[in-house]
Amino acid sequence: MKLGINIDHIATIRQARGTLYPSIVDAVKIAESSGADSITLHLREDRRHMQDHDLFDLKPIIQTKMNLEMAATDEMLKIALEIMPEDVCIVPERREERTTEGGLDLKNNYHQIKTIVNELAHHDIRVSLFIAPDIEVIDSAIKMQVPVIELHTGGYADTHGKQQQLELEKITRMAEYAAQHNLIINAGHGLNYTNVSAMTAVKHIDELNIGHAIVAEALFIGWDNAIKKMKSLIKA
Ligand code: PXP
Repeated sequence: MKLGINIDHIATIRQARGTLYPSIVDAVKIAESSGADSITLHLREDRRHMQDHDLFDLKPIIQTKMNLEMAATDEMLKIALEIMPEDVCIVPERREERTTEGGLDLKNNYHQIKTIVNELAHHDIRVSLFIAPDIEVIDSAIKMQVPVIELHTGGYADTHGKQQQLELEKITRMAEYAAQHNLIINAGHGLNYTNVSAMTAVKHIDELNIGHAIVAEALFIGWDNAIKKMKSLIKA
């Protein structure tokens, strides 16, 4: 299982003061030398963390691969086609949310998302859809012919005890179902040093994408060690 590092909250710290530090470029270099398998960044409509220039700064720097998270809009499509990241993960976006709180609504936005998916795929960008672990939504993703899905692990990460166990079982079943349909499966959201180990036991997950918990841990043990620590939990 691979570890994708989401670096949005390095930019959150920078944007809080409008400074030039912490350097996103240095953060990526350290992340990759500490074991990151890919670098994820989300260019939000409100530009609350990543800025457009970050994408241009990072593209020549990233040695693994860039996974650009974006909403299915024409504005983001245009930027993605200028940057040409290896991967794009389409995510739902609401301005008032604190973070990406749910998966894509493929039922109501099918045609809008499909248009963007086709355009990205036409340019050889590997497209992933950030979706809930739900059979109907997975069926829509299969119909859309994307190669990759990212299962939203928030339902698992935000619960405890019996409920958390049920959420984990659901993710396990949905990963099995998606794998039978030849989808590549990533997962992420809300994973941390305490809850990640159970997720590593789920079969068929190719990559976990983790951000907030690693940036927070970096305050105490350093960015490199925080990544190595997560990587060793995933390997274990
Ligand atoms: N995957 C996706 C698609 C995301 O949008 C995010 C950020 O919300 C993450 C993974 C990482 O989540 P977190 O920062 O909670 O680790």
